[in-house]
Amino acid sequence: MGAGIDKITTIGVVGAGQMGSGIAQVAAQAGYRVLLRDVSEALVDRGVAGIDRNLARAVEKGKLQADDRAATLGRIGKTTQLEDLGAAELVVEAITENIDLKKEVFKALDKAAGPETILATNTSSLPVTEIGAVTGRPDRVIGMHFFNPVPVMKLVEVVRGLATSDETFETVRSLAGKMGKTPVTVRDFPGFVANRILLPMLNEAVFCLMEGVSSAEDIDTVMKLGANHPMGPLELADFIGLDTCLFVMEALYEGLGDPKYRPCPLLRKMVQAGWLGRKTGRGFYQY
Ligand code: 3HC
Repeated sequence: MGAGIDKITTIGVVGAGQMGSGIAQVAAQAGYRVLLRDVSEALVDRGVAGIDRNLARAVEKGKLQADDRAATLGRIGKTTQLEDLGAAELVVEAITENIDLKKEVFKALDKAAGPETILATNTSSLPVTEIGAVTGRPDRVIGMHFFNPVPVMKLVEVVRGLATSDETFETVRSLAGKMGKTPVTVRDFPGFVANRILLPMLNEAVFCLMEGVSSAEDIDTVMKLGANHPMGPLELADFIGLDTCLFVMEALYEGLGDPKYRPCPLLRKMVQAGWLGRKTGRGFYQY
């Protein structure tokens, strides 16, 4: 028997970056105790400071009571030790997209966590089944794929690995609902659904730019005004991070073995230059 939704009171989050801190925020706002872990105190503090900024903005806009801001922050504990996450009934991993690092983290979590604890990964495109296989609990390993910015985006892809049990799946589906998200069920194939459809569109926009079909600004205007997208594809690629975009395209290309997913050479070149989008101040646009 795994941990049912009623048994979950504390959620561990590994990785205090953009995604991890967003996940910590929505979990704490849903009333869960959260333990946020990163490798240094400075990184955890930066994540919590970002959460505090989001909550402060919500208070300013009258969407959150000042008391709720304090209570939400008060539910978030900070740590640099993976072992401390043994106190959680469910852990969401949101570290960098590197399969070897993720496997290391899951092996350590498998040792630290109670036998019923569910271990979830926020991976955008790595195989949940392969990550689960390094643990002694592949039935309690699952994908919980959030979207950026996590506090705003309503979707969670709940990704079932080959060994994921029905009970784990039901628990995580319910949890996503309690966090104010709409869960969808997805099987463990490269890019799942969202990134399999979205990233080739972004990649095609980079091809249009590389081939001189149009300028970056005009490509974005086309999709904003012609398809009602909230952001143009190149602006969105900068927002996601060009390294992440390239990573997902590589995963689609290799995992599905179809040349239609080949990453655009210009995308690769920009990543080689260290122009990763908003986070480095330069991508298709300057920030
Ligand atoms: N964190 C928290 N809240 C944020 C935020 C952030 N980073 N950015 C914006 N918001 C909030 C604002 O506070 C505002 O809240 P309110 O409605 O309560 O006042 C609301 O979002 C709307 O923001 P703005 O009015 O400032 O700006 P926009 O209306 O332009 O919306 C946006 C911003 C929500 C980011 C919108 O442009 C959008 O939806 N863009 C597309 C995002 C997208 O496609 N994300 C998915 C990326 S793919 C992914 O994540 C998967 C991964 O695996 C690659």
